[in-house]
Amino acid sequence: MECRRIIVVTGSVGAGKTTLSRELARILQCRYINLGDYLISKGLTAGIDRRRKSIVVKEGNIMDELKKEDCLIIETIYPNLLSGISPDLVIVLKCDPEELYRRLKDRYDAEKIIENVEADVIDTFTIESINTFGDDKIMEIDTTNTTLEDEVKLVLSALNGSVKLPIFLNRGLDIYIKLNSIRRMLLGHS
Ligand SMILES: Nc1ncnc2c1ncn2[C@@H]1O[C@H](COP(=O)(O)OP(=O)(O)OP(=O)(O)O)[C@@H](O)[C@H]1O
Ligand SMILES: [Mg+2]
Repeated sequence: MECRRIIVVTGSVGAGKTTLSRELARILQCRYINLGDYLISKGLTAGIDRRRKSIVVKEGNIMDELKKEDCLIIETIYPNLLSGISPDLVIVLKCDPEELYRRLKDRYDAEKIIENVEADVIDTFTIESINTFGDDKIMEIDTTNTTLEDEVKLVLSALNGSVKLPIFLNRGLDIYIKLNSIRRMLLGHS
């Protein structure tokens, strides 16, 4: 069976992917998968590409497996691995550096926190998504001050075609200033 609806949810570690994906899966009656866990459970990973900071997928088509599902919400920090599918919607979750720092500070060491905040600031996930899927199915949602309920409303409107999908690249200098103070605080220099 060809998959009837695929929604990809991407964004930095801690941006809120699992929270939103699980709620969407419940409301839309879709299967939720975390792509990394899914590939591991199917024995489809062959290591880590350290330069790209991405997992390497074994030869063979992961898409064949995925397309068997009727309706899928796929959480991933590796949107590039999904180049073989045409999602109905790609949601890129963003978060202000200071809030992302608060979400990550008890989970990771300084290096990993900075790496992830930086990835969000420089729009890594939006750019990877545009490169993988084109820009007409991509929406960004900033989860810094939104509720889960608001996020779901935005997504449902996007699926109905009733909102223009927003992408906010280049959001200004203040996020770089915040990133730099987090760096200084964690590493003692900028
Ligand atoms: N819209 C939101 N507003 C405020 N906090 C949120 C929001 N969405 C998620 N969070 C909080 O941020 C933290 C990370 O959320 P979540 O686990 O969903 O992120 P994730 O992107 O899936 O992270 P990971 O990459 O580690 O899987 C959780 O503590 C969650 O409660
Ligand atoms: Mg998650």
